[in-house]
Amino acid sequence: MPAGFAGRVVRWQRTHGRNTLPWQNTRDPYRVWLSEIMLQQTQVAAVLGYYERFLARFPDVQALAAAPLDDVLALWSGLGYYSRARNLHRCAQDVVEKHGGAFPRTAEVLATLPGIGPSTAAAISSFCFGERAAILDGNVKRVLTRVLAYGDDLALGANERRLWDHARELLPRRELQENMPRYTQGIMDLGATICLPRNPSCLLCPVQEDCAATKQGRPEGFPVKTKK
Ligand code: ADE
Repeated sequence: MPAGFAGRVVRWQRTHGRNTLPWQNTRDPYRVWLSEIMLQQTQVAAVLGYYERFLARFPDVQALAAAPLDDVLALWSGLGYYSRARNLHRCAQDVVEKHGGAFPRTAEVLATLPGIGPSTAAAISSFCFGERAAILDGNVKRVLTRVLAYGDDLALGANERRLWDHARELLPRRELQENMPRYTQGIMDLGATICLPRNPSCLLCPVQEDCAATKQGRPEGFPVKTKK
């Protein structure tokens, strides 16, 4: 396991990551949750306007829970994947009715809410509460399968579960838990700006020396895709 991996991600994020997005520099779980749901399957540039309009209309989870579903869907109109908006509304109602109006503070409990999968749950808990929880969205799968030259097909549940184990092993160690928000953002930023599907910018990558796929001369060979 590459020692110092997390520290290199954190140091790089500070100077080269994205640090001015409107859902950053807040630890309000409502704002972070809303951004993470909008950013599922949707690019940052497309989300920005929707995010601001949504927050202006529904400034907190109580306002969202009390709104008619049709108002929520109307504000979502154009973002796509409308099940996200329905789950968003149901999730807000669950937070109000089952959690006393406060978002749960652990990924484990967050992942029981509608629309919040394990990776989104970990993003929220690490950003807002500094939990040592691993994310593993599509971009992070690409980063980690390359770093580890992980050649097992992720379409197989057991292989994906082993990658989750690796993702947890690579987290900042407990003494540096305070770095969790920046580590989570950093590994997302690496996937979005450096470790691209085609022509990754390996020369600019802070973990190039850790990257087994690059040592093999074939970063684009990971993740391994199944032929259907
Ligand atoms: N995609 C998912 N979460 C994100 C975040 N916090 N910042 C930028 N892009 C993201």
